[in-house]
Amino acid sequence: MLMVIGATGSVGREVVDLLLKDGEEVAAVTRDPGRAALPVGVHVVEGDPSAPGGISEWPDGTEAVLLNPRAVGTAAAHFLAHAAAHGVRRVVVLSAATVEHPAGHRRFADQFRAIEQTVRDSGVQWTFLRCADFAANALAWAPQIRATGIVRGAYPSAATSPLHQRDIAEVAVRALREPAHAGRAYLLTGPYSLDQRDKVRLIGEAIERELAFQEVAPEQVRQSLLAQGLPQDVPDRLLGSLADYAKAPGPTTDTVERLLGRPALTFRAWADDNAPAFLAPAAGS
Ligand SMILES: NC(=O)c1ccc[n+]([C@@H]2O[C@H](COP(=O)([O-])OP(=O)(O)OC[C@H]3O[C@@H](n4cnc5c(N)ncnc54)[C@H](OP(=O)(O)O)[C@@H]3O)[C@@H](O)[C@H]2O)c1
Repeated sequence: MLMVIGATGSVGREVVDLLLKDGEEVAAVTRDPGRAALPVGVHVVEGDPSAPGGISEWPDGTEAVLLNPRAVGTAAAHFLAHAAAHGVRRVVVLSAATVEHPAGHRRFADQFRAIEQTVRDSGVQWTFLRCADFAANALAWAPQIRATGIVRGAYPSAATSPLHQRDIAEVAVRALREPAHAGRAYLLTGPYSLDQRDKVRLIGEAIERELAFQEVAPEQVRQSLLAQGLPQDVPDRLLGSLADYAKAPGPTTDTVERLLGRPALTFRAWADDNAPAFLAPAAGS
């Protein structure tokens, strides 16, 4: 049995689907099974991993766990102690590239360093997936693209190698199933570096619509995110890292290709897979 924490997230859902397809027994943790829309065949575990003791059930024979730092929050040590007590032998952590290539505010890198340290201290075997930015972050642009075809943002030249969530999921599945990945930290990125204008152009190609990136001042972006009700951390995280990636691009590695034996998926492939999110609804619908 393999357990997925954050099973309703962009990576978690892919991991659940891949494991089921491979015939594995999967326990998927969610706070709200009624809304989770998890696939048939999965063992749904109701619980909040961010609350100490918040997991209602540890299915027998749970061997390895995919750990989502956001979902487990500050309860990681508690969660890992329970996992170990229930026989879990391996933990695969969705960590971040910023751990070894710092960008943005230091406190965000420190959060990932802290969770990695907590996992190391737990005594359970670990694999760290230090992920570059997810291509799925571009979904934040979807409302603007649908409404106007123009993305308003700061730091147009900020460049990263965004990751398709399927690549993260395929690597996670290997690490969950194969003990040979224990003790390894993998720096995962997409296949090449793209700045923000490139990303908008590639989404435009996928939906066959000319899109534009319009530069606005960072403070304007901050105010508009806060006005949408997002917590202070969101603009801090976003603008801090973009400012640094405008000075020097984020890393690009061939780790996905080395681990999966095929090239990492491109941002254009991700945009094709997610095109419906960027398409304006047809008139009258
Ligand atoms: N986005 C990036 O560029 C990036 C880069 C590197 C690393 N990461 C890390 O990768 C993970 C993101 O993965 P993802 O996008 O697949 O998932 P996600 O959207 O962060 O969350 C997945 C699920 O976790 C549960 N969850 C979220 N917040 C929670 C909270 N405060 N308390 C309890 N449960 C919570 C929710 O499930 P239920 O509602 O079903 O319970 C949610 O659907 C995060 O830990 C992030 O820090 C992200």
